[in-house]
Amino acid sequence: MKSEVVRVELEERSYEVVIGAGVREELPLRVPSLGDGEVLLVHDGPERPWPAEVKQKLEAAGRRVVECVLPAGEEHKHIRTVERIWDAALEADLDRRCVVVGVGGGVVGDLTAFGASTLFRGVSLAQLPTTLLSMVDSSVGGKTGFNRPQGKNLVGTFYQPRFVACDVETLATLPREERIAGLAEVVKSAWLEGEEAVAMLEADADLLREGDVEATIRAVVMSVRLKARIVSEDERESGSRMLLNLGHTVGHAIEAAEEYRGVRHGEAVSLGMVAACRVARACLGERPDEARLLGLLTRLGLPTDLEAHYDAKASAHLVSDKKRRGASIRFVVPTSPGKTRIESIAVDDVRRALGV
Ligand code: GLY
Repeated sequence: MKSEVVRVELEERSYEVVIGAGVREELPLRVPSLGDGEVLLVHDGPERPWPAEVKQKLEAAGRRVVECVLPAGEEHKHIRTVERIWDAALEADLDRRCVVVGVGGGVVGDLTAFGASTLFRGVSLAQLPTTLLSMVDSSVGGKTGFNRPQGKNLVGTFYQPRFVACDVETLATLPREERIAGLAEVVKSAWLEGEEAVAMLEADADLLREGDVEATIRAVVMSVRLKARIVSEDERESGSRMLLNLGHTVGHAIEAAEEYRGVRHGEAVSLGMVAACRVARACLGERPDEARLLGLLTRLGLPTDLEAHYDAKASAHLVSDKKRRGASIRFVVPTSPGKTRIESIAVDDVRRALGV
């Protein structure tokens, strides 16, 4: 089993992210160092093999496992689903020594992490992300939370896991479109990281589109390394962590306008990066390397047809973005690989740049 370990350095809250093929095996081995109580295993996919496999391994090692199965989908990312996590623990009489293990995609990960951060005022958390999106973004860095009718992820905490295993073998059971959508966050990471990372994705583009294991490990390692570095320097998003929002301002607006039932999050981020290039050009007189960014997105099978998705409804959602400050939005400007920065741009100027 080939694996790489990336460490998120946060002093006494530092932790390891293990990336590779088959690394889910590590999870039951690490649990003893995380707590000696029962395991609360939270997941939304009884039809995928991973939760049952983790449960069986933990039980074989002598752990009592309490299972909490959540309903799948963004529409269930609300407080009532969090209550199911709390109640599963309380009804099974777990205590502060328990270890919460989340197995699944971004929604399960964020809800599980919020549940763990609030249960008994915080218990040990380990994550086995099983989508590309959650491996390269949401499972690392400690953002937790759920949606409110007013918007996505408006309530949450910063709460770091104690261990994360990114097992690319779990991606084999994902629908192809789901995996491809996750590549948008990989492109985002590469663009923030710099020339070498973008060149690597360009060289690996065909392999990545087809789900090649080695190329996927390289992409996840690059993305997690970048995220670990940024989170170590700005855990609470007061500076450089904002860069991770590249493509997300317009992306979130498109997702909200389509009521989270249209484009996938990754596809929206891809469109958001296209929009960010246009805004940079029109509002700041920049000359972003748009052809290169669009070329890479297209080769990976990601959408770039902004006009098909960005309309008056999406434009209206720009103002509900968390990154808005009064009449301005903090926009991540994607000039060229490794050259990105945050600019405050008037919402009206963004709308003019995008034509609506
Ligand atoms: N998803 C962006 C972040 O974790 O900051």
